[in-house]
Amino acid sequence: MTTVLLTGAAGYIASHTWLALQHAGYRVVGVDNFVNSSPIVLERLAELAPAPIEFERADVGDAAAMDEIFDRYRPAAVVHFAAYKAVGESVSQPLAYYRNNLGGLVNTCEAMKRHGCLRIVFSSSATVYGAPEQLPLREDAPTSATNPYGATKLMGEQILRDLGIAEPAWQTACLRYFNPVGAHESGRIGEDPRGTPNNLMPYVAQVAVGRRAKLSVFGNDYATPDGTGVRDYIHVTDLAEGHVAALRRLLDQPGSLTVNLGTGQGYSVLDLVRAYEAASGRSVPYEIVARRPGDVAACWADPTSARELLGWEAKLDLTRMCEDSWRWQHLNPQGFN
Ligand code: NAD
Ligand code: WQD
Repeated sequence: MTTVLLTGAAGYIASHTWLALQHAGYRVVGVDNFVNSSPIVLERLAELAPAPIEFERADVGDAAAMDEIFDRYRPAAVVHFAAYKAVGESVSQPLAYYRNNLGGLVNTCEAMKRHGCLRIVFSSSATVYGAPEQLPLREDAPTSATNPYGATKLMGEQILRDLGIAEPAWQTACLRYFNPVGAHESGRIGEDPRGTPNNLMPYVAQVAVGRRAKLSVFGNDYATPDGTGVRDYIHVTDLAEGHVAALRRLLDQPGSLTVNLGTGQGYSVLDLVRAYEAASGRSVPYEIVARRPGDVAACWADPTSARELLGWEAKLDLTRMCEDSWRWQHLNPQGFN
C-alpha cells in the first residue's frame, strides 16, 4: 500500500482530502501542529474514515521531528497543505508568513530529499494570478503577488520548479485552488475559522446560524453583472478528489505539473447569498459597504488542464456547496468547540 504524508492534515481542506485518499486506497499519515485547527478533527475523521487515522503532532519546520516521521512511515509522496492563509494577517506579520509557509516548505522538501521521497503535491492558490487581465484564467496567465501570503504561494511554486530543474528526479504538482467552500456531506467536518471569518461563505454561514447579525458586502460597483465580486467557488469534496487525481498522476507518470482546481463558473456575492438562503431556509441580511482593499472584481478558472492532465473535473454545484456548508454549520454552530 502506498503511504502518503499529509501536512496540515487537521485543517479544512486536508481533512477532506485525508478521507478521499483513504477511499482511493492510500495509507495516510497526518502531521499538524494545530496552530489553526482542532484535535477534535481527528476524532471526527476516525468516525468517517474507512481505515485507521494515523497522526503525528509536529511542526513541519522541525527538521528532527520530520526525520523521525519519515523514518517511521517511509511515505512515497507528500501532500503539503501546512501554511498560514490569512491575507490581511500576512500584511501585518510578513515574517511569520515567510517563515511558516516558505520555511515549512523548504524544511519539508529537505526531509523528503534525505529520505528519497521526491513527489510532492503543493497547495497553491488562484491568488498567484494577482489582478486577472483576462478571464477565464489559464495556467499560463501572468502571475504576481499583491500581499505576503500571495508571495509565499508564488515563491513556493518557484522553489518547486527550481528543485525540479536542479534535480529532475523530483516530481511536483502545484495545485492552484480557486475558492474552496462547503463541507463533508456528513456534517461532521468542515471549515471552522478562528475569530471573525475572512472569507465569504463561512461568514454567510455564521449569519445564517445567528452567530453574526449581518454580512458586509464589500462593494457593489464592480464591473460585474450585479456589481458585486465574482469568484469560482469549488466544493471542498471536489477539491479533495483533485488531490487524489494529482497524486495518482505523479505516481503513475513522470513529470511535474501546475494546474487550476476550479469549476470554471463564476458566481457573485449576491448569487451566493441567495443560494445560501435557499439551502438553509434562513435569511442572510446584508449591507453594502466599501470595497475591501486588494480585492479583484472577478476571478474564475479555465479548468481544461485539470481535465486533460488529471482526468478530474468538479461535479458539485453551488446548491450542494451551500447545503453541505449549512449542514455542517447548523449541526456545529460553534465549530469544533
Ligand atoms: P487551514 O488553516 O484549515 O489548514 C492548514 C493546516 O496547517 C492547519 O491545520 C494548521 O494547524 C496547519 N499548519 C500550519 N502551519 C503548520 C506547521 N508549521 N506545521 C504543521 N502544521 C501546520 O487552511 P486550509 O484552508 O485547509 O488551507 C490549506 C492549504 O491550502 C494552505 O496551504 C492554504 O494556503 C491553501 N489554500 C487555501 C485556500 C482557501 O481558501 N482555504 C485557497 C487556496 C489555497
Ligand atoms: C470572496 C468574495 C469579497 C467576505 C481569498 C484569498 C485567496 C484564497 C481564497 C487562499 C469577494 C466578498 C467576502 C465578506 C464580502 N485563499 N466578501 N464580504 O478574496 O476571493 O480569496 O480566499 O489562497 O488568496 O484572497 O475570497 O471569500 O474572502 O471573498 O463581500 O465578509 O466575497 O469581496 O468578492 P477571495 P473571499
